[in-house]
Amino acid sequence: MYLGILLSGRGSNFLAIAESIRAGRLPGVEIAVVISNVAEAPGLAAARELGYPTALYISKSRKRAEHDADVAACLKAHRVDLVCLAGYMRLLSPEFIAAFRNRILNIHPSLLPAFPGLEAQEQAFAYGVKIAGCTVHFVDEELDHGAIVVQRAISVLEEDDGPSLARRILAEEHIAYTEAIRRVASGRYEMRGRRFVLRQP
Ligand code: GAR
Repeated sequence: MYLGILLSGRGSNFLAIAESIRAGRLPGVEIAVVISNVAEAPGLAAARELGYPTALYISKSRKRAEHDADVAACLKAHRVDLVCLAGYMRLLSPEFIAAFRNRILNIHPSLLPAFPGLEAQEQAFAYGVKIAGCTVHFVDEELDHGAIVVQRAISVLEEDDGPSLARRILAEEHIAYTEAIRRVASGRYEMRGRRFVLRQP
């Protein structure tokens, strides 16, 4: 299974996936291309340094559908089976989502459906939740909404502040994304409505 990673920033989730592949935790999975919409994204520089095929399509001031068509063509040229959004801070066009229906994963730093949108960790901390976490889900036309593949939860500690909570959620994200890719790549699942259900071997 070929992955296409889309990122806009730091790229720690991309690096965690790459490390899982290197360590043999995702047999049969390869990263075919890393694409960024932001020229300065540290994740893009890291991908180049590690020798992955990379592409840059700057999205700023471009029409969403046109930009996404370029990205989709690049993914198809690299024969990507599964698109992994890893801190990709741009909404996808309906055409892009239709072209990769049920083949786009996103990671979000909250226990959806709580706290969709930006700065989810800060939202959760300010709300005063006692349990926080992250979600890997399929992408559909609604923001942070598609069927959930994996969630990981942690307790919010008395001594947490916003940044410490975000750091501890990020450590869970790195585990969750590998687990979600492993589940999807196995092909041993079925969708029951919104429910992602693993089939027994
Ligand atoms: C991660 O915390 C990810 O969950 C979040 O952006 C960060 C990217 O970090 N994504 C969203 O908030 C999407 N709604 P990374 O670049 O180090 O992987």
